[in-house]
Amino acid sequence: MHSLTESACQPEDIAKAVEFLRAGQLVAFPTETVYGLGADASSAEALRRLYQAKGRPTDHPVIVHLHHAEQVHDWAQDVPEVLDALSAKFWPGPLTVVLKRKPHVLNQVTGGQDTVAVRLPNHPVARQLLQAFDGGLAAPSANKFGRLSPTLAVDVRNEFKSEVAMVLDGGSCEVGIESTIIDLSGGTPKILRPGMITALDIESVLGVPLFAREAASRNVDETDEVRVPGSLPSHYAPETKLALCASGSMEPIVSAYLEQNKTVALFHHTPHTISGEKYGAKLHSSLAPSTAAAYAHVLYHALRELDAIGANLILVEEPPSGAEWAGVWDRLRRAAAENS
Ligand code: TXA
Ligand code: MG
Repeated sequence: MHSLTESACQPEDIAKAVEFLRAGQLVAFPTETVYGLGADASSAEALRRLYQAKGRPTDHPVIVHLHHAEQVHDWAQDVPEVLDALSAKFWPGPLTVVLKRKPHVLNQVTGGQDTVAVRLPNHPVARQLLQAFDGGLAAPSANKFGRLSPTLAVDVRNEFKSEVAMVLDGGSCEVGIESTIIDLSGGTPKILRPGMITALDIESVLGVPLFAREAASRNVDETDEVRVPGSLPSHYAPETKLALCASGSMEPIVSAYLEQNKTVALFHHTPHTISGEKYGAKLHSSLAPSTAAAYAHVLYHALRELDAIGANLILVEEPPSGAEWAGVWDRLRRAAAENS
């Protein structure tokens, strides 16, 4: 096993990464959403290593990352025409599409289902790597199963040691939460995981109302036939107990904790929700950005930092509603579901 190589991204780093990948090793790389843990999606041995490193159940499918849209047909069949319009508008970018699989696609990629998920990431390092690799890379988020997704190379290095051959460093991930997943394998398109490409964005291309369906399906995903690990409530969770709370109800919760001599880490977007002076050092308060894009960008890093405080509670002010906030809401709900 190779030791972990830290890396900025020179052409020789890409060449080395491709060498590792062709040898069935794992290479973590940045995407515009979160860091991915890459493995050759055509190699059963590389996929075995990937599942082992992540500690992920082997029947959970992974996304195949590609460099250009024509490669989709190497992995999927019966591709609906509407993919052309979606791909023209959103690829490369944070949209994953679930399609009917080609028969040769390994069960370790599909989780044994008759579908395969594909996406073209839009980060220069990811694109360089995929172009040089010239094939599909299975790349789940580069975190141990059930933990927060990494948005910095250092997050990956802290979580994996020698089981990952190389970490390509592409700075901080711009989008900050995982891609939107849309299922195009059945009759009606369905959003399986909300993200920063919103239901409304997709609707405007498809010409069908997705938003109502997404809202209706939000609470039934975990019992769906399709296995989406990200839809288990315990996913994306910090160690510290996390509660989501409407702006007006935060004060009594904080008071109750502090009266019991417990500490609270507050993540709020409305300034002056609670007076810091009144509570002193027992209350750690940090201000969240007010737009959905900026909020998503900082979310996982903020949760890591709030977790590191070691407070008794992370109290998050409920974000605004609206289609552009659906991805943020989804990740916060899951984080809150962990210890409730
Ligand atoms: O933004 C992202 O999508 C990141 C970056 C690295 O590209 N990747 C990511 O991968 O989030 P992962 O494995 O952490 O989450 C992929 C999700 C899982 O919830 C998985 O169940 C779902 O995609 N998925 C994969 N193949 C599927 C399929 N055939 N049908 C339904 N869901 C699928
Ligand atoms: Mg993940």
